[in-house]
Amino acid sequence: MNREEAIKKLEKYEQNHILKFFDELNEEEKEELLKQIDETDFSIIDTLKNKNAKNKKGEYSPLRAMQISEIEENKEKFHEAGVKAIKEGKTAALLLAGGMGTRLGSDNPKGMYNIGLTKDVYIFQRIIENLLDVVNETGFHIRLFIMTSEKNHEATVNFLKEHNYFGYQADRISFFKQDMAPACDYEGKVYLESKNRIATSPNGNAGWYMSMLNAGLGEILESEGIEWINVFAVDNVLQRILSPEFVGATILSGVSVGSKVVRKSAPDEKVGVMCLEDGKPSIVEYYELSEEMMNAKDENGDPAYNYGVILNYLFNVAELDKIGRNNLETHIVEKKIPYINDAGESIKPEEPNGYKFEQLVLDLIHMMDSCLPYEVVRENEFAPIKNKTGVDSVESARKLCELNGIAL
Ligand code: UTP
Repeated sequence: MNREEAIKKLEKYEQNHILKFFDELNEEEKEELLKQIDETDFSIIDTLKNKNAKNKKGEYSPLRAMQISEIEENKEKFHEAGVKAIKEGKTAALLLAGGMGTRLGSDNPKGMYNIGLTKDVYIFQRIIENLLDVVNETGFHIRLFIMTSEKNHEATVNFLKEHNYFGYQADRISFFKQDMAPACDYEGKVYLESKNRIATSPNGNAGWYMSMLNAGLGEILESEGIEWINVFAVDNVLQRILSPEFVGATILSGVSVGSKVVRKSAPDEKVGVMCLEDGKPSIVEYYELSEEMMNAKDENGDPAYNYGVILNYLFNVAELDKIGRNNLETHIVEKKIPYINDAGESIKPEEPNGYKFEQLVLDLIHMMDSCLPYEVVRENEFAPIKNKTGVDSVESARKLCELNGIAL
């Protein structure tokens, strides 16, 4: 893209200020900025126009979860079906590690965080060790995809290489970068991060499938015959990935996606709850849960909306192929965005100063025809690290690791 073409594109989106420092740049920097303008989708900023139009939700109804007692009764059958699929190479794991982990407040990728007390125990290590349990049990080297972002790709790849992938077979790991979205001020003007770079941030965790296809990894899915992908978050240090029973139950249920869920600890717990929306699987956010839904009971007298999601989903690849990215809702998130001011000085704001744009994996669930909520024991499988202290923190996760006999 040359300067004239860039001006044309920017005029269309009223973002001409991006070229403010253009004449001060050297040739290489000019080229970098023009390339970024060419690649950036500014149309996402239009989402702001509908910011206040409340997103219309459909009619909610309960979605029955497969509970632990039922899983226990069918354990052998599920286990056998799961192990078979894993051994046949039909399943892959996909680690979502493109987030910025701002709440934890470390500059490194979240997975590099060391939760050990007497020895090193990195978050990435915990996850890989759990996946290796399944590899060792089945004897099959499961394909592991790792999604990073432009902001943390190099650090992630180098760290894992330095640690010899914590024992995982290197040629079974495929990295790819997720797409970025521009970040803007409250008036919708895109920030400049430096004189030759637009401020961008990872575009949310729903983009994983499109980003992996854009990176050419669809070829691996095809050539290896991968039919199911277990997508999971980096920050749960007790995350069990591709547990054979979960894989078996999902496949035998004939659903488009399986979702691990935990029983809520209180009716008003701040987790997204699995349900149906207009007859399709959906996740209702805790702040959208009405009093009536909170108190609703099922046929056994148990709470009808009682199972929270833990960001561990087993997606059917053929079902994913049916949906397009543009059908997904874009969420506008208020954040602190570092930028350069009109004088070209770098500013690191203390308070939120604008918006980032994200598409979320929970909206992807609503694009699926059917879903199996699959209950797991909370204390054994859910130890998220979002904050430094308090709820969902390094402290709470360490306690849960101890409870599970994991030496730290
Ligand atoms: P979170 O919603 O906790 O976001 O991500 P985050 O960026 O890690 O943390 P905060 O909100 O800034 O503190 C849940 C999972 O989704 C991944 C994260 O890496 C984590 O595994 N994620 C999130 C992405 O892969 N890409 C994104 O753009 C956002």
